[in-house]
Amino acid sequence: MTERNNPELDEGKLWSSLESIPHAVQEIDTDGMLLFCNAAHCRMHGYEPGELTGKNIRGLLATEKERGHFREAVEQRINCHPLPMSYQTRHRRKDGSLIDVQIDWSYKYGISGQIEGFVSIVTDITQQTRDRKELESARESLELTAARHQERLAAADTKLQREIERRKNIEIAMRNSKHLASVGVLAAGIAHEINNPIAAALNSAETALAMRNDPDSGQLVEECLQTIVVSARRCCHIVKDLLKFASQEATERTPYKLNDVVDRALRAVRKLTDDESVIVETVLTDEPIEVAVNLLETEIALGNLVQNAIEALQGRPERKITVRTLRSGPVAILEFEDTGCGIAESDLHRVFDPFFTSRQDAGGTGLGLSIVYAIVKDQKGEIEVYSEAGVGTKFVLTWPMVSINL
Ligand SMILES: Nc1ncnc2c1ncn2[C@@H]1O[C@H](COP(=O)(O)OP(=O)(O)OP(=O)(O)O)[C@@H](O)[C@H]1O
Ligand SMILES: [Mg+2]
Repeated sequence: MTERNNPELDEGKLWSSLESIPHAVQEIDTDGMLLFCNAAHCRMHGYEPGELTGKNIRGLLATEKERGHFREAVEQRINCHPLPMSYQTRHRRKDGSLIDVQIDWSYKYGISGQIEGFVSIVTDITQQTRDRKELESARESLELTAARHQERLAAADTKLQREIERRKNIEIAMRNSKHLASVGVLAAGIAHEINNPIAAALNSAETALAMRNDPDSGQLVEECLQTIVVSARRCCHIVKDLLKFASQEATERTPYKLNDVVDRALRAVRKLTDDESVIVETVLTDEPIEVAVNLLETEIALGNLVQNAIEALQGRPERKITVRTLRSGPVAILEFEDTGCGIAESDLHRVFDPFFTSRQDAGGTGLGLSIVYAIVKDQKGEIEVYSEAGVGTKFVLTWPMVSINL
């Protein structure tokens, strides 16, 4: 038989054990009379050992509010006999200072099973309560600061949006002014280009009109008419190119496989290259590179490059165009190379300028490469030219890749 189960265990021994444990223990009757308070309990409340025994617990409760709660709680326990549940309250120490306490209590029954009182462990939770309050107030002030920051952020965001809007408007205004300036340059170029053939046509028409009744001027009149036809054709050529140039605005771009674009463009000009006996070699990448382009425009651009290459290959010993597609990181590359006459170093920087042409006599308008440039730029791409006179020319076109399914 263990000591605990021994009915002969001295009750005094049990109380003396309770007296010495480091937790505050109290026993009260149903009127709140303190029947037992151990040393830890007295210490917690600032009393001498044994000083509280025989006093009423109400004297320890901090205010009338706590005393009211206690009265109600005891009544409720006696009448309803609820399961013991810990609760928190506030005690007043002998020196008047207040402590927050947690009461873990249980019933004490008499021999006939009636409730005689309550045994409790009292824990000082003043520090815990203080910490919790501090934590709560810190959280509240943090929330307040966060809310203030959020407000400031929202205000900054609105300001930023306004700034973005303002810059967008400035950009649009600048683009419009640049557009107007480029329209001016274009208009001057067109006037210059069209002025010559029109003047020639007008001159010839006036001569033909004046000589039409002169029987000896048949040959001269015919020459004049020929000049009129050539000049009118030249104007048509210029207008056709300008229309292509103008159509680059407001075009839609869709993802296409770069190899497919090249295939289609080369198929469209096959008759031309075949007729001119130009060898077209394609070295296409196996990677399914996609670029966001306008198919028709890109075909026009490649068609212009082919046209230029054919012209540059006139009279050349090796008549070959090589088209390569490849990828470098996120960039899709198209190389277009010919073994033509090449471009003089002094002209290289001007080839993309509208109306720059070295083939004025052969009817060139100088709009072909500027159309290619405008198309590629509009598709967020880049175009560069490398050339050596007497060796050949290489155009390198690059676009940001849309996707790659490796
Ligand atoms: N592949 C090439 N090889 C050599 N020179 C070239 C090549 N492509 C362009 N060029 C040079 O660039 C100039 C401008 O080319 P662009 O296509 O803009 O005009 P063009 O061919 O002269 O006239 P068009 O408007 O009829 O195309 C050409 O006149 C030529 O001097
Ligand atoms: Mg051209």
